[in-house]
Amino acid sequence: MKIFIKNIKSLYGTHSQEVSSVKGANMNVLPCIENAWLAVEKGTIAAFGSMDDFDGIEDWRDLTVIDAAGKYVLPGWCDSHTHTVFAASRADEFEDRLNGLTYEEIAKRGGGILNSAKKLASMSEDELFTAAFERLNVMMSAGTVAVEIKSGYGLDEENELKMLRVIKRLKYEHPVQIKSTFLALHAIPLEYKDRVEEFVNLMVNGVLPKVAAEDLADFVDAFCEDGYFSVAQMNQLIDAAQVLGIPAKVHVNQFNIIGGIDAAVKRNARSVDHLEELTDEDVNSLLEGNTMPVALPACSFFLRIPYTPARKIIDAGLPIALATDFNPGSSPSGNMNFVNSLACIQQRMLPNEVVNASTLNGAFAMDVQDVLGSIAIGKKASFIITKPLNSLAELFYYFGENNIDQVIVEGKIVDVKAN
Ligand code: NIG
Ligand code: FE
Repeated sequence: MKIFIKNIKSLYGTHSQEVSSVKGANMNVLPCIENAWLAVEKGTIAAFGSMDDFDGIEDWRDLTVIDAAGKYVLPGWCDSHTHTVFAASRADEFEDRLNGLTYEEIAKRGGGILNSAKKLASMSEDELFTAAFERLNVMMSAGTVAVEIKSGYGLDEENELKMLRVIKRLKYEHPVQIKSTFLALHAIPLEYKDRVEEFVNLMVNGVLPKVAAEDLADFVDAFCEDGYFSVAQMNQLIDAAQVLGIPAKVHVNQFNIIGGIDAAVKRNARSVDHLEELTDEDVNSLLEGNTMPVALPACSFFLRIPYTPARKIIDAGLPIALATDFNPGSSPSGNMNFVNSLACIQQRMLPNEVVNASTLNGAFAMDVQDVLGSIAIGKKASFIITKPLNSLAELFYYFGENNIDQVIVEGKIVDVKAN
């Protein structure tokens, strides 16, 4: 199928092909073409330009024409941090938190991640696949075209491999681009409470080689935090994965600062995610590496914890990406539009910065920037057409509303009614 989109009010995100991420003051630069057209062929972006210079269509056969008068077109959202494969909601813990317990208190009494692990162990691969597939449909209809998905609710070999096989199947069967992360060190199972080193060794020396042999993971991840895993344990995982050619994306600085950022940057992690707590030393470490900081504002919103200091990060000259952290415990939403509104409202990010953070930088954080994240010839035709709007800012200003009219994923029009 070929698609021709005409009369686009503004075509945003036309970064030149070799731009793989944007940082600092450049985050507020979002290249665009006003009154534009865009042509899609064989699932990729074939050409685009200004309507003023448009010199007609040569071949009308098999062509879908979309009139985007009054509407904006921008690259689809790249959600680089999710736990989309999970068994069930944790709405019971939500109520506990409303009654005053904290996320950490719930975890200490065997709830939290351990609760999700218990539920996941009793579900089949097929059941997990179907539930995750439907979640991905909802995310896609809200404009998301690429999703990173983590394991981490298995906590033993059998169930971690089960989760990763589900993610692998989603890669083949779901239209969005998917990257898979082996979240080897997510929580300490009760039976390993006093034998954490043994659990780390099991995951790193026992399970990781099997994950690599079956080609089940693009990244590894650890929850580096007081009460979870130490910097040394995270390093053990990253170093072992590096030998197998698997880079890391890690959970750091959500509640405590224990030195995870510096260690991860020095080990060339692809991204460091959360960063609700962040010191000047952490910023300096980030400035010395090539690791993408990822903010997860929906998690801050849901847990009522501080927001990642995005201004501090950007104003220091660093890049930042935004993601949903979709999971049943700390962010039960995969909606990037809400994340983007929160980034503006709570993190004082500007609309251009938000688009760059949720498209190109998100793509970089999951290593798909060569094929997604901007409007460039040859990249995948995966983008968003907004409803008629007066400015880009309105897309984020009307928080909680769906201002997305159409979503195109690899050249196919998605039914957004599911949203
Ligand atoms: O990114 N912080 C660790 N992991 C997830 C939460 C997982 C859960 O509570 O189920 C997060 O917030
Ligand atoms: Fe997470």
